Amino acid sequence: SQKFHPALEPLKWLVGKWKSIKAEGQFPTIKPFTYIEELEFESVGQPLLNYQSRTWHPVTKNPMHFESGFLRIDPGTSNVAFMVSHNFGLVSLEEGNVIGNTLNLKSKSINRMIFAKEPAVTEITRSYVFCPDSKRISVVVSMATSNTELHEHLIVEYEKV
Ligand code: HEM
Repeated sequence: SQKFHPALEPLKWLVGKWKSIKAEGQFPTIKPFTYIEELEFESVGQPLLNYQSRTWHPVTKNPMHFESGFLRIDPGTSNVAFMVSHNFGLVSLEEGNVIGNTLNLKSKSINRMIFAKEPAVTEITRSYVFCPDSKRISVVVSMATSNTELHEHLIVEYEKV
């Protein structure tokens, strides 16, 4: 895009549309699974990126998890905040930083609808790493719940669409 706020420079490698090459899910309490994902970090000229992620089942193509939100950067710093709403009734505010080709985030607050499914998510961490050679991004999302300690939930590799 031509519109690019200078404050976004540290996040430049993340901007655009990405599609999963390999997306695996796991957690101690569930059966491992795979999925397909398309996500976008869109720049429209503001010092933030508009975020959207859509996933679907690799065989049935049924929609699965959806997220949308905003990734903001504190201009002139490496500090970022990611506000995400999840289709299963959860909102998370995650904070962290972007250092070189790595973006790390950890939830600061999580809230859920009263009728959201148990168990409650109590913590989320995400790590996005860009590999300049392959031009791919690797992402690991971990979570803790009211039943289970922090553990990897998603391990994904994306290429630019
Ligand atoms: C299960 C949260 C992203 C697919 C779960 C569970 C939780 C959860 C709390 C239940 C775990 C348990 O019963 O102990 C989250 C959070 C996410 C996320 C916080 C993002 C930060 C995703 C994504 C997918 C996905 C992107 C991909 C499609 C599943 C599946 C299960 C599951 C298939 C097991 C079946 C089920 O219980 O519905 N997730 N999830 N999740 N998640 Fe996620």
